[in-house]
This record gives sequence, C-alpha cells and structure tokens, in this order.
Amino acid sequence: MALAAETQSIVNQFEYTDDDVNKGVKEFLRQMAEGLEKDGTSLSQIPTYVTGVPNGTEKGLYMAVDLGGTNFRVCSVKLNGDGTFNITSDKVAVPKALMVAKTAEELFAFLALQIKKFLEKHHGDHFEAHIRRRMTVSSPEGYKDENVFRMGFTFSFPVQQMGINKGTLIRWTKGFDIQDAVGKDVCALLQQEIDKLHLPVKVAALVNDTVGTLMAHSYGAPGSHGAVLGAIFGTGTNGAYVEKLSNVKKPMVGEYDTSTGEMVINTEWGSFDNQLNVLPNTPWDVVLDKQSVNPGFQMYEKRVSGMFLGEILRLVILDLLKNPDVSFLKDDNSSTNDLRSTTDIAETSSIFQQWGVDSSILSVAAGDHTPALTLLRKGLDDNLQIHAAAYEDAQAIKSVADAIGRRAARLAAVAIAAIVLQTGKLNDPAHKDEPIDVGVDGSLVEHYPYFREMIHEALSIVDGIGKEGAKRIRIGLAEDGSGVGAALIALVAAGMEKNTTDAEEILG
Ligand code: GLC
Repeated sequence: MALAAETQSIVNQFEYTDDDVNKGVKEFLRQMAEGLEKDGTSLSQIPTYVTGVPNGTEKGLYMAVDLGGTNFRVCSVKLNGDGTFNITSDKVAVPKALMVAKTAEELFAFLALQIKKFLEKHHGDHFEAHIRRRMTVSSPEGYKDENVFRMGFTFSFPVQQMGINKGTLIRWTKGFDIQDAVGKDVCALLQQEIDKLHLPVKVAALVNDTVGTLMAHSYGAPGSHGAVLGAIFGTGTNGAYVEKLSNVKKPMVGEYDTSTGEMVINTEWGSFDNQLNVLPNTPWDVVLDKQSVNPGFQMYEKRVSGMFLGEILRLVILDLLKNPDVSFLKDDNSSTNDLRSTTDIAETSSIFQQWGVDSSILSVAAGDHTPALTLLRKGLDDNLQIHAAAYEDAQAIKSVADAIGRRAARLAAVAIAAIVLQTGKLNDPAHKDEPIDVGVDGSLVEHYPYFREMIHEALSIVDGIGKEGAKRIRIGLAEDGSGVGAALIALVAAGMEKNTTDAEEILG
C-alpha cells in the first residue's frame, strides 16, 4: 500500500467525532457524580479543603514550591493586594534516578536542599536572622517565630487530602515511581527534611497544580467573577473546579469552613474512564499503556497530555518503519521540490527508545506551514536524528502528529465541557451573559499551535453548550498557578492557623 493511503488509514483511527465528544461528555458527568458519592472510583473527585476562590485583594509574602512531572520549582511570592504580585523563583530538573528512588527520603531530602539554596540566595537576611534567633532558644517547644515562611506545596500527584496541609499519596503518575512514599503524608515527609536542615519554613498547604491554577486565575483574571475551572495540559493533565458542598456526598475527614457552601474538588481526571467505556483505544494506545509504569491507570491522560503524545507518535512511526508494504523513511521516496541527500536514521536515534520522542515535535509539525515542510524536517533531523527525510515522509509524520494532537484537544474539550455543564452557570439567570472563566496552564496550551482553538471548536458542538455557550467560555492562560496559586492557599491556611490560635487564646 502506498504511504499516503496507509497514513490516511492511521489518521482515521485517531478521528474523534462530534458524536464521540458528546458521548464522552455524558460519561464524564456520570463519572463525576460517582466520584462525589464514594471513594475508589476512576475519577477520584478529591475534596481539597479549599472552600473559596480569592478576589485579588489578598496580601503578604509567602513561599511556594512545586513538584511537577519534570522540574522542582521554589518561589517566594509577594501578593500586592490589587490582583498583582512579584515572584522570585528558581527551578531545577528532578534527577531521573530520584523519580524512581528506593526511599521517599531521598527525593524529599533533595527537595529540602533546593529550598535551603533558594533561601540562602534570595532571602539571606531573613534566613540568618532566623538561625540567630533559633540559637538563643534552648528548647524547640519554646521557640516561636513570626518570621517562619508559610509555604504552599504544589504536589501534582493524586493525594487523599485529610486537611489543608495533610494528605497521603494514593499513587504516583507521570514518570515517578517510589513505592515507599505511597500511603504516606507528603507534607510530613517534606517538613521532616526541612526541619533536618533547620529552615524557617512551615508547609502550610498542600496544593494540586490544578487547584493553584484555579486560584491564580481567580486572583488575576480581570473582570472575573472567579474562575470555575483550573486545568493543566502539560506533562500530565488534570482539572480542579468549584463544587457545591451539598453535592459532595462522600464523607470528609478533616475540618473546613462551611460558610461559602463550596469546596474546590481536584477531579484527577487523568484517570477518567480507566475502564474504557468511551475512550478511544487504537492499537498504539494499547501498546503505550502496556509498556507504561501504571497499566490501566491514567487512561485519559495517556491520550491527552504532553508526556504521552510523542510516545504515541513514536509507536506509529515504528509500525510504519516495520511495514514491508510501504516505503517510509527509505531512500526511494523522492520529491520534486527537494534537494536532499540520503535518508538515514541513526541507530542511536531516540525513535528507538521508549519516551524518546518529545511531544514538542508535534508542536513543530502543527506549526509548519512551509511548502516543503522544512521546519518539521529540520526538527526530525535535530531532535530525532532522522536525517534528510523526504517530503512524503515528513508529510506522513505531520498527518499522524496532527491527528494525535487534534484528538487530544477534542478529548480535552470533553472534560472542560462536562465541568462547565456541572457548574450550571451557562443557564443560571444570576450569571446571564457573564463570561465563564477557565484558567489553563501547561506546555500543550502554551506551545501547541491552535490547541485552545481546537478545544473551543469542539465545545461549540456539545449538547447544552452550543455556539453561543462556547462563546462565553473564556479559556485563559493562568499566570503562574503553581507559584501564586500555592501562595494564595498558604495565605488561606495561615489565616486558619491564626483563627485557631485566636480561638485558643480567647477560650483560654
Ligand atoms: C497528573 C497528576 C495530577 C496533576 C496532573 C497535571 O495527572 O496525577 O495530580 O494535576 O498530572 O500535572
């Protein structure tokens, strides 16, 4: 079969129709309701103990750290109280060996060390004053320090939250796998290592990156009535939204403020439909899942997020290479608009290694409108050591990459649509004609060309949303969710501590 025909048949398998989108939304709503009723469902629907979103007037200096899929980031954030903030931050890549370390201590000691380095570099005075004061007090119990930084800990993995700064790890996702940490309180693990280094830092709040995104977007979005959803489309994907407390039927163990009647829920939608009731399942999805560290989990994430899209493309490319009936990346493809040397794939090409293809090549493919696909061919050469690919080869890769990206965006629309419908805001007369704000962050929404446009297009065909509804949904890049958002939650948590102390003092 000719390459073009084979490519078309592959592209067809990634087709995710309007009808599929609508079926997906219905099932998403069903699984959301199920997750609010009981634990152990595929959409975890985790109560976060955050009971309101900010309005921009919050003030103060807080710290925030963020352990995402790839990097560890340490920041201090000054909230100015007028919707603006100043942030200082440093970032390091988490060494791959630590992502799969034997003990939790190895990873968390590394994190605490980065916090120490950050404090020494950016807040030296504060740090030394703290050490001096500490040395003058004989017993740690007698030691109270107003200058201890309250820190929000953005930990972007599924955690069973028991309170605003307490939560046990349910399972690792993305590239992490440290069995020793599963079931442990991740705030306590970090605090222990911070204390070993005598740092003036208290882990005040445990924050999923999506919750941080939701908070940051509510703080900073101009004219916003508070965002309804914070979502990440990066290495992984997930969303957090504001739910009516009365809809949360399953028991919550920790204490929380009931006055707002709301609770932010971390959906952990990466695991939407692990049972594959409605998710598409091509042969390449099957292989990817089988070879992953968590087969059967994060099935939605494995079709949507950055960590996986490149891998799906890689598996398709390998199949095309193995197919004796098509000529692909062999030297006999020719092109009239093409002066090239011999096509050659280096033996060491990362195309032959699991996870070897970064999703950024999909962004290059989607953004390449040059007649000879010059950008993509250069990308293949630079990143994958596929030298001098013919135009036909590049065209095949572009078609498949675009199909994978488009399916991801339309699947992303399923989750967003379901949550917008769940909030009931579209039809609420009290919010008539108001924009519905969705804050998003992550490499796909930042760098994949037209990702947000494709989401919007799919939203407009959802029953109950339609063209008019879709126009009201504003998908905006959330500014620095993991920094500002986590700082905002640390602020809320510090307020809660203070209230408890005041109450204790009043009650004697
Ligand atoms: C994974 C994590 C989730 C996180 C998301 C985005 O899905 O399980 O907690 O929010 O990645 O980083």
